[in-house]
Amino acid sequence: MSQPTRRIFVTSALPYANGPIHIGHLVEYIQTDIWVRFQKLRGHECHYLCADDAHGTPIMLRAEQDGVSPEQLIKRVWQEHRADFAEFLVEFDNYYSTHSPENRHYAELIYRRLDEGGHISRRVITQAYDPEKQMFLPDRFIKGECPRCGASDQYGDSCEVCGATYSPTDLKNPRSVVSGATPILKESLHFFFKLGDFEAMLKTWIASGPVQAQMANKLSEWFTAGLQEWDISRDAPYWGFEIPDAPGKYFYVWLDAPIGYMASLQNYCDRTGLNFNDFWNPDSDTEVYHFIGKDIAYFHILFWPAMLTGAGFRKPTAVHCHGFLTVDGQKMSKSRGTFIKARTYLNHLRPEYLRYYFASKLSDGIDDLDLNFEDFLQRVNSDLVGKVVNIASRCASFITRRFNGQLADNLAEPVLYAEFVVASDSIAQAYEQREFGRAMREIMALADRANQYIDEKKPWALAKQTGAVTEVQAVCSMGLNLFRLLALYLKPVLPGVAAHVEQFLHIPPLCWDDLATPLLDHAIAEFKPLMQRVEMAQITAMVEDSMESHPATEATPAKSGGPLADDPISPTITIEDFAKVDLRIARIVKAEAVAGADKLVRLELDLGGATRQVFAGIKSAYAPEDLQGRLTVIVANLAPRKMRFGVSEGMALAAGGGGGIYLLGPDSGAEPGMRVK
Ligand code: MSP
Ligand code: ZN
Repeated sequence: MSQPTRRIFVTSALPYANGPIHIGHLVEYIQTDIWVRFQKLRGHECHYLCADDAHGTPIMLRAEQDGVSPEQLIKRVWQEHRADFAEFLVEFDNYYSTHSPENRHYAELIYRRLDEGGHISRRVITQAYDPEKQMFLPDRFIKGECPRCGASDQYGDSCEVCGATYSPTDLKNPRSVVSGATPILKESLHFFFKLGDFEAMLKTWIASGPVQAQMANKLSEWFTAGLQEWDISRDAPYWGFEIPDAPGKYFYVWLDAPIGYMASLQNYCDRTGLNFNDFWNPDSDTEVYHFIGKDIAYFHILFWPAMLTGAGFRKPTAVHCHGFLTVDGQKMSKSRGTFIKARTYLNHLRPEYLRYYFASKLSDGIDDLDLNFEDFLQRVNSDLVGKVVNIASRCASFITRRFNGQLADNLAEPVLYAEFVVASDSIAQAYEQREFGRAMREIMALADRANQYIDEKKPWALAKQTGAVTEVQAVCSMGLNLFRLLALYLKPVLPGVAAHVEQFLHIPPLCWDDLATPLLDHAIAEFKPLMQRVEMAQITAMVEDSMESHPATEATPAKSGGPLADDPISPTITIEDFAKVDLRIARIVKAEAVAGADKLVRLELDLGGATRQVFAGIKSAYAPEDLQGRLTVIVANLAPRKMRFGVSEGMALAAGGGGGIYLLGPDSGAEPGMRVK
């Protein structure tokens, strides 16, 4: 059972420091964390490192919008990310930032070595430039009309309406998202990494099996398309590291992002006394694994190994890709309330439910996985609460009440116990291969077996018989021993539950080798409920909380600095943009509470002839009956939104964000239907 100890270094992708962690991200961090915990449980030396990806244009602009420095922004987000991960029991050995001295050091070192090796080229290119803001514009920061179908408001790289891909210079009536100005074309010197120099090396490496088969297929498409030189420089103003000996030129964020894995490791080594070279030297026997989403495979499977090789470092042992999370079969969406932030989830549900649910759906493939709320509720309740926890609650009270907490001194059913032990090999193999769904199915089959045993023996009936006292103890001790093995097998997925089980069984932290020795003649502590059922109401409340909120529903407490500091002015729009919004005076004819929604009021509005139904998140500030008869202002041409309670056909305007909610209304004399300009 025990194997030689391996030294393993594991990373998850570095989340961007301009937004919160959401449940889509969590697929990856939970997947990696489970794998790492499994390795540690098996007694291997395993180090799990990550960091925030803290550079790039979106972070620079976001900080500017928020009226803070990029340093302040990334510091705040770093703290939020860390707190979210900690509460989801994602346990990094080090969580660092790409905006760090270590990262600057390794970025410069790698760049210099690549340059010395002749792998960097320089040439002048022409790019879109915002003459007002005086900056070059990434494709995503230019919008205009699609050159193919004419759809308005499309990004500079592709059309969401007809699917065309093009370059930003093809857009009709292009404008800068940053300032609204019409971009001009401007020349500038750029630096390129010559990826093609590494084609042969990459082909050999990929043939040796470091990526999943599905990914390898994708790769051959990329090779056929040809490996292009990669533009690794950006001009000032840019938020990142300046390129050595090239004033005003910065490393593109994706150049220093993967180097952040090294920076986090260096920082960790300095903290713990480990030796960096044991990990990244070409002759290192450490296993190195990157867990990533399939959207960023190109960077990790082509650029990154090529950069490492060119700079004299080793390549990763493997890159493990996963698919994307959908919710109820669709892309996560703010308007449907399925773009669920880690924090919102935590406000309603216990993290281990989601860990278990993801585990039960994960395989080693790159297919997308779906979070379906019915299925989520059903799986958690029937597997965890109904099967696993149930075993303990059925056995514990007899041991506590009748036997003073003492377990029997031998195993009633050694054969059954041995069956559970034998299953460990297959379960371990499933974990090792990232076939978590299979691991969960095998564990649940064992849980069924344990419940079946208890059903057959009926300790509750035995307890009423005279002369069956020792049998009650024997059956319940057997049940608890099976339960202990289930807790061990589930420990990578449910570390919090496992910790409670350890307290309850009064044992040191469970590790894989413990399964050989049953728990006999041992005093346990009192059983406390380990997990509650999930209720649909908790899920609906979470979804409701995640709905794209208009100002009125986002009543955040006032902070010093005033509302503007918390909710800064949005990017400039043109008068034409504004003219698209049709604002009208409306009379609230009827207002009523919505059953099952604590924040919403259903409004029936008269627009001077037409009637509309609008749901407004203003219940915390207004009693519905006080609203009837009032005039207010609504966005009359907002696309209808289907909500859980009905369709909302507009939006009532209210001020909010400073702790209160204030519905807008016109001065006296205004009439329903009047346009607001
Ligand atoms: N900063 C880059 C990664 C740099 S690694 C050197 C990045 N950040 S991200 O915040 O956009 O995504 C972080 C990870 O979360 C990526 O691996 C990404 O694939 C994953 N996911 C983001 N949204 C996801 C889903 N909806 N579903 C599953 N994984 C998702 O990319
Ligand atoms: Zn189009």
